[in-house]
Amino acid sequence: MNSTNDQKREQWASRSGFLLASIGSAAGLGNIWRFSYVAGENGGATFLVIYLLCILFIGLPIVIAEISIGRNAQGDAVLAFRHADPDHPWYIVGGVAVLGCFIILGFYGVVAGWSLKYFVSALSGHLWATSDYNNFFSGFISQPLEPVIWQAVMMTATVTVVAGGIQKGIETVNRILMPILALIVFILAIYSLTLDGAGKGLTFLFRPDWNAFSKPSVYIAAIGQAFFSLGIGMTIFLTYGAYLPKTFSIPGIASTIVVGDTLLALLAGLAIFPAVFSFGLSPAQGPELAFITLPGLFQLMPGGNLIAVLFFGLLVGAALTSMLSILEVPVAYFIRKTGQSRRTVTTSLGLVIFVVGIPASLGYSVFKPAGIGERNILEIYDYTISNLLLPLGGIATALFAGWGWGKAQALAKSGFHEGLAGQVWLFCLRFIGPIFIALAFFSAYLF
Ligand code: PFF
Repeated sequence: MNSTNDQKREQWASRSGFLLASIGSAAGLGNIWRFSYVAGENGGATFLVIYLLCILFIGLPIVIAEISIGRNAQGDAVLAFRHADPDHPWYIVGGVAVLGCFIILGFYGVVAGWSLKYFVSALSGHLWATSDYNNFFSGFISQPLEPVIWQAVMMTATVTVVAGGIQKGIETVNRILMPILALIVFILAIYSLTLDGAGKGLTFLFRPDWNAFSKPSVYIAAIGQAFFSLGIGMTIFLTYGAYLPKTFSIPGIASTIVVGDTLLALLAGLAIFPAVFSFGLSPAQGPELAFITLPGLFQLMPGGNLIAVLFFGLLVGAALTSMLSILEVPVAYFIRKTGQSRRTVTTSLGLVIFVVGIPASLGYSVFKPAGIGERNILEIYDYTISNLLLPLGGIATALFAGWGWGKAQALAKSGFHEGLAGQVWLFCLRFIGPIFIALAFFSAYLF
């Protein structure tokens, strides 16, 4: 075993600290910004049903697998796979994930920066100087400098917290932010549900159109969203799990994380769709839903100024708690590899990732010609991450825990031991996840 792994590693101060940080990691822009527009584009309730099934039968088993692999090795993504199986090159899965996090955080930091810009504009009142939010948004993102500055601010905040360490940095920030974010999303949902005509939003979100179940694109969208929203396939839970003491039960903790993330996505849906329908707007706006449709809607609502501050504050806070976990994946790896201090590694990686994100940020101006077809660079990053990188990483993790690790090891390290629950877990990892995802991909690309 690697010598750094023998040193005393930092650990979470408590079970609740790990839980809050993990829910903070899972619940992010994916639950609010991405969930609302993807659900909007894919018919609402039909998408929701498939999404929930993916979360339960594919997402939860992979979260358990990731935490088990990380906790067992008490080390970063590459070390953890190597520790679990020194004889086969499964560590490549860890290596790809470490690299993948550069792209994810690069692009994520851009949208987090937009959220911060809107939050500050809502606070200062600047957001209300117009009623043409199409123009407001495109005017903002097509500038060559301003979006990059907001992105830099979010990256600096992320680096500062992660440099503080697991307990003092990541755990402390999640302890403060997560209860506030939960309260905000709850207030927004209640408010939205009391608007006239809110019922149409509920119908959209909860009454499936059975014909839409035959569309492969809805399945792909639901799988991509389940992976993005939980943040699985990129060893984030593996990395956080490596700081978890061996005494805690993993299946219980993982279920709480998954329920927490899903509830936050549903509450965000309840905050957004009833309001959108109540004002007769269309939910199928694409990625701009949160930045074009919603500000226009806030302007029309009673108390909309405050609602906008709360909404964009929620977006910024949720983005930050997720950015911490994405950065921690390469940070853990490079601290071991380089032997440098956490502060040095975090700052250097933050800088590199910031640069990786710049083309996405400038995909609406300087880098516009570099888009492919209809998609600009940010959309290419998003598509590659959600529909390719995360599902492939997730499937590789599922295949490793289900087949490569060995049944006895997998059951012992996850804490299932013998019993029905462990068998169901392995069955999901071995068959349900890989087969379902392979089928969805084949049908989407063949038909
Ligand atoms: N799960 C978080 C979200 O929903 O925003 C953050 C995240 C992590 C997104 C990893 C994407 C990802 F690949």
